[in-house]
Amino acid sequence: MVLDADATKQIKILLNGQNIVMPAWKQLSDTEIAAVISFTKNNWSNKTGQMVQPADVHAARQ
Ligand code: HEM
Repeated sequence: MVLDADATKQIKILLNGQNIVMPAWKQLSDTEIAAVISFTKNNWSNKTGQMVQPADVHAARQ
């Protein structure tokens, strides 16, 4: 999922949490959430070259 071309699912998990156990991070700014997702997409052995923009996070907020 971190490697998916479409980051929408990952953005929504960060904003809303998942299955009660993963906390929501909606208190973070659009820039912070975009940065942490872009980091997970391009570090360790992950080399997607994808950058999530703050505008993408803004659009996914309810
Ligand atoms: C900013 C920090 C964090 C990021 C970027 C992050 C990211 C993610 C993502 C993307 C997933 C979904 C994985 C998948 O379904 O393939 C996930 C799941 C999960 N996260 Fe986090 N997480 C963070 C912090 C935390 C913290 C602090 C906790 C616990 C206190 C936590 C607990 C969990 C758990 C338990 C799951 C699995 C939920 C399930 O089984 O459905 N995460 N996290």
